[in-house]
Amino acid sequence: MRAPLPTPLVTVEVADTLRRGVPAVLVAFPGDPVRLGPGAEDVTDLGDVSGKAGATSRQGRTWVVGVGDGGPGDWRKAGASLVRALHADAEKAGGTTFDVRLPADVTAEAVAAFTLGAAVGGYRFKVTSEPPPPRVKSLRLVTGGAGLVDAVRRATTLAAATSFGRDLANTPSNVKDPSWLASAAVRAARAAPGLDVAVRDEKWLAEHGFGGVLAVGGGSSRPPRFIELTWPGTGEGQSHLVLVGKGITFDTGGISIKPAEGMHLMRTDMSGGAAVIAALVAIARQSLPVRVTGLVPAAENHVSGSAYRPGDVITQYGGTTTEVTNTDAEGRLVLADALAYAVATLRPDVLVDVATLTGAMKVSLGLRTGGLFATDDDLAARVAEAGARVGESWWRMPLLADLAEDVRSDIADLRQCPPGPGGITAALFLKEFTGGVPWAHLDIAGPARADKVYDEVVPGATGFAARTLVELAETYSRPDTIG
Ligand code: BES
Ligand code: ZN
Ligand code: MN
Repeated sequence: MRAPLPTPLVTVEVADTLRRGVPAVLVAFPGDPVRLGPGAEDVTDLGDVSGKAGATSRQGRTWVVGVGDGGPGDWRKAGASLVRALHADAEKAGGTTFDVRLPADVTAEAVAAFTLGAAVGGYRFKVTSEPPPPRVKSLRLVTGGAGLVDAVRRATTLAAATSFGRDLANTPSNVKDPSWLASAAVRAARAAPGLDVAVRDEKWLAEHGFGGVLAVGGGSSRPPRFIELTWPGTGEGQSHLVLVGKGITFDTGGISIKPAEGMHLMRTDMSGGAAVIAALVAIARQSLPVRVTGLVPAAENHVSGSAYRPGDVITQYGGTTTEVTNTDAEGRLVLADALAYAVATLRPDVLVDVATLTGAMKVSLGLRTGGLFATDDDLAARVAEAGARVGESWWRMPLLADLAEDVRSDIADLRQCPPGPGGITAALFLKEFTGGVPWAHLDIAGPARADKVYDEVVPGATGFAARTLVELAETYSRPDTIG
């Protein structure tokens, strides 16, 4: 079946003159109720929306949007809610392209944040044969300021990564099985020169001992795949970052089946994998001078006569055995194989995995913040700072030493699900497969989905983590940065 077509992103470009006859948008700062001028002659009163980031008002064909205190988060919010307001009022909007008048002293950081918000804030995913209603197509940022074109281009690349991550995760699981996800990665990589993809099937996985992926995928008639994306960097001797993303294309829980209520949301259980695929495409498009490998173990966790069982002992990649205690804790089993494979075959300098791993993390941090576990303080700081720069927030969680013994089993090397704090014990299980390589584990069970609109986020899959991964890779592309 074909993939549903998502709405294209709003495009943003920089210009230096206002056009006549085109609907205009003005930006309002606190205490400065809109400087009316060229392009807004017919406007007499736009109200005061200046104090609140994202507040909008309209008179005729002129709109105004508030940017609150003018921090990057305010600009992101302003871009997003502006585009949503224009979409909602499409009839009165008077066109599909808008001139946005920005002050000459606007910073590149503000413009980047505004662009990001505008590009993804109006995102919509709908499977339908109805013709789509008119939508905003593009914004021209009109400013005398210099040096903004690059900022807009980078923000657009980040926005495209978020949007692609959302598309993959929003795709329903009747369409999206492991082989569909692999094909989507191949198709996307073709559009990114230099990005290589290998897709391994269940036979290859069996030959190479991927016991976790095979156990989890064994209950489905749609067999697992292992996706490996390679961005070789731009020269010799560059740092090698390996990104691993959970690619469960649907999670029923398996024999330890999930309750019906909420199970449908598990179509987004490959959001970590989606973030990794989207990030690799963005990294290649920007031709970053850093080597990056993306690994996505993809499987459908299903119930059938061939499904794996609680009480099974499986052999992970590399030989470590795991006592399965709950087939719904499938994510760690597929990630363990991929991490072990990375350590054994790819010589990573840094290892990062991303996964919708535990409901416990939603309880700990809610729905807007990702859980960050790391064996290395420098890496933890890079992730948190990278996220802050692109509007994704992370909170560091502890790899508690006193719980480390809990992942040992009496009948196998490791026990899959010990009792105790679920997000932490899952991380401690994964740590066993990281071979001492500096490692970060990002649990995005909370922020990978949204149930309401906020900032640049709309309900459904959020694409969370894709931007952080791109920005993180960029930190390793600066000289002399491993440490
Ligand atoms: N995919 C789920 C985690 C999840 C839950 C993600 C809710 C997003 C929203 C994961 O595979 C899972 O089922 N985890 C179990 C682990 C438990 C059985 C130890 C959980 O968190 O309940
Ligand atoms: Zn899962
Ligand atoms: Mn599960």
